[in-house]
Amino acid sequence: MKIGLLGFGVVGRGLYDLMQGRPDMQIKTVVCLEDVQLTDAKVTKNFQEVLEDDSIDTVVEAMGGLHPAYEFVRAAMEAGKNIVTSNKALVATFYDELIPLAQEKGLLFRCTAAVGGGISWLSELERTRRTQTVEAVGGIMNGTCNYILDSMTRLGQDYAEALAEAQKLGYAEANPTTDVEGIDTWHKVILSSNIGFGVSLIPETVPVCGISKIKASDVENFKAKNLVCKLISTGKQENGKISAYVQPTLVPQGQPEAAVPANYNLITLVGSASDRMSFFGQGAGRYPTAHNVFQDCVDVLCGKGFYSPYGEKVAACNEGKLCYYVSGVCDSFIEANKAETWGNAVVTGPVSVSEMHAWLKNNPDAFIAAIQ
Ligand code: HSE
Repeated sequence: MKIGLLGFGVVGRGLYDLMQGRPDMQIKTVVCLEDVQLTDAKVTKNFQEVLEDDSIDTVVEAMGGLHPAYEFVRAAMEAGKNIVTSNKALVATFYDELIPLAQEKGLLFRCTAAVGGGISWLSELERTRRTQTVEAVGGIMNGTCNYILDSMTRLGQDYAEALAEAQKLGYAEANPTTDVEGIDTWHKVILSSNIGFGVSLIPETVPVCGISKIKASDVENFKAKNLVCKLISTGKQENGKISAYVQPTLVPQGQPEAAVPANYNLITLVGSASDRMSFFGQGAGRYPTAHNVFQDCVDVLCGKGFYSPYGEKVAACNEGKLCYYVSGVCDSFIEANKAETWGNAVVTGPVSVSEMHAWLKNNPDAFIAAIQ
């Protein structure tokens, strides 16, 4: 197997290190913008050198971002090369194009590190769906948000302080919007649902709410009720309908999600035979993530392609009702649904997920958390 590696940052460098001494795989060319010296691989800034090299059968994309990752991956596929990527934004955004293209061209396409970083989540989801119906997927899929919420809960930090710490430790990006507004988790739950349920979810029908509006006073309110706030993703298949969403959620102390520390992930599936199976581990980081990219390369070498056949496009239907904690804004809609007050916040009676998220769109200063 000869590999063209795109990107030599955290994950690309990690893969290079882990593959050292592997006789059946060779990173032949590395495309990156940095000045890197390697004795056993060619380093270039020019992607064409990978594209035009017929001896390279597999492209590993570890650049991140949508562009030019999309253009490079698409061109590599058109040229008949297999793909391994850790890029969840790329796969979730261009799912309808890349997955059918891989099928049509008979190419192998793997992206295990795209969800859960170092956790073998997508590959286990793939195995699960061979023998039973996947009824639900979801959980804690973003280490940055978990780190911030955990620091606020355990150390009493306020949001800005916890975020600054997460940035200092390299968990959050310098521009943390994708993490804290839930977009990273949104990509991950869409991808997990697509693979687990064998569909192609229409992304606009999956509502997302992040954690950027949470205050220390909210966390005090949760502690008083023995609840812990986590950013939870949900994908569910029930009576032929799929619901999917991302939102802060209050979980009782004692539930596994409540105990997830620091930047760890806890991702769960519910199978018709196996019931609940949870996967705990590092959702990011050089060697954990690179290890899953490496696993995907081994899978490609063994002829293993995408996790599930491309399925039909479906809209998520989020009519299920939940009670919500709401702070920061109290208007006539919240008053009309009010069931209780917790400190300066309101707890609603059951409201549908879609209705609550539609309200939030018009009230972006509010913080909401579903009560589990
Ligand atoms: N930024 C992500 C996280 C890591 O904090 O979990 C990669 O998905």
